[in-house]
Amino acid sequence: MRKDTALIQLGREHGDSPAPVNPPVMRASTVLFPTIEAYEAAGAKKYAGILRYGRHGTSTAFALQDAMTQFEGGYRSCILPSGLAAITVALVAFAKPGSHLLVCDTVYGPTRAFCDGYLQGIGVEVTYFPADIGEGIGALIRPDSCAVYCEAPGSCTFEMQDIPAIAKAAHAAGIPLIHDNTWATPYFFDSFSKGVDVSIHAATKYIVGHSDAMLGVVVCNEATWQAVRNVVGAFGYSASADDCYLALRGLRTLGLRLQRHQDSGLKVATWLEGHELVERVLHPGLGSDPGHAIWKRDFTGASGLFGFVLKTPDRAAATAFANSLRHFGIGSSWGGYESLVTLPQPVRTIPSAASGVLVRLHVGLEDPDDLIQDIERSLLLVGSGGSRSAAE
Ligand SMILES: Cc1ncc(COP(=O)(O)O)c(C=O)c1O
Repeated sequence: MRKDTALIQLGREHGDSPAPVNPPVMRASTVLFPTIEAYEAAGAKKYAGILRYGRHGTSTAFALQDAMTQFEGGYRSCILPSGLAAITVALVAFAKPGSHLLVCDTVYGPTRAFCDGYLQGIGVEVTYFPADIGEGIGALIRPDSCAVYCEAPGSCTFEMQDIPAIAKAAHAAGIPLIHDNTWATPYFFDSFSKGVDVSIHAATKYIVGHSDAMLGVVVCNEATWQAVRNVVGAFGYSASADDCYLALRGLRTLGLRLQRHQDSGLKVATWLEGHELVERVLHPGLGSDPGHAIWKRDFTGASGLFGFVLKTPDRAAATAFANSLRHFGIGSSWGGYESLVTLPQPVRTIPSAASGVLVRLHVGLEDPDDLIQDIERSLLLVGSGGSRSAAE
């Protein structure tokens, strides 16, 4: 089954009884059983998609778990209340006190903050490696290394990583590769066939797709499942059935939306590349990007999130640019239908060569020509040193 067909069918197994098209929302804390024997029998299988107590999920969460597992080709999934919860659960499952963790330098800020704060606090040593390390990661792996963590591309500066080469080195040392696959989703990147052991999704972004729910998913292979599931159970994480429903509904149109995000994103990125005030566009789908060859080899597409560096080091001018945009909202997150702009200031161990101000765009489902016109008009402010009348 091809992905567009799978997205319509995943998690919707109805059997022979009449049933609504969409798996209904089942809200529950207490679930009633006819006998103690039946209750105790269900307890023995509480993490196996069996209805037992609301915290372990109801039929709505089970449908989303099944859909995500099958979509990505994993063994089993856990649903978490946010993408960051999915990241921290996956890290805690492997990073034990006294162990050593390898993390790509370009990861999402709160992932780094969790490594530097909580994990280092419990005695985990963290080494940040450059995104282009490839098989060179082998030289950094130590006998006490517990896992390698990647996010390809990095969600602020968009550096690709050679996931198959990193996975090969990690597996040679007997440790898992954890990957934040939020940017590409399983639609554009098949984590498990590329050697990933634990695939993380901030479903808040493209999977929900409408900026109205927080949700995370961890998809595991068979070898990593129990460790991740144990942490989810121990910490008592649970996700709302309503949010799982929204994620299931978002999945049905994910392919269509991502194709449009990709096309519009590439159109805007290509236009930006030709602009005199732009130093560099950070988008692995562009031929000029240092990660393009790896992206082309391993990914089947690009989402709508990318960055560019303005030539000016003047943050006030960049702020005036962002404030003047009419079709790009200012706010956290991405992956909804709407366009967004931020001016990230990522923390890095390995400094970037770029000297100008970084702008991150999420290109939504609007007409890309309107977005380009909006950017062109607002860039006049950068050229004029930030005077508003120049853009009006
Ligand atoms: C790459 C990436 N992973 C994870 C997250 C966290 O997701 P959430 O906001 O659902 O906690 C984000 C949020 O921006 C992200 O950009």
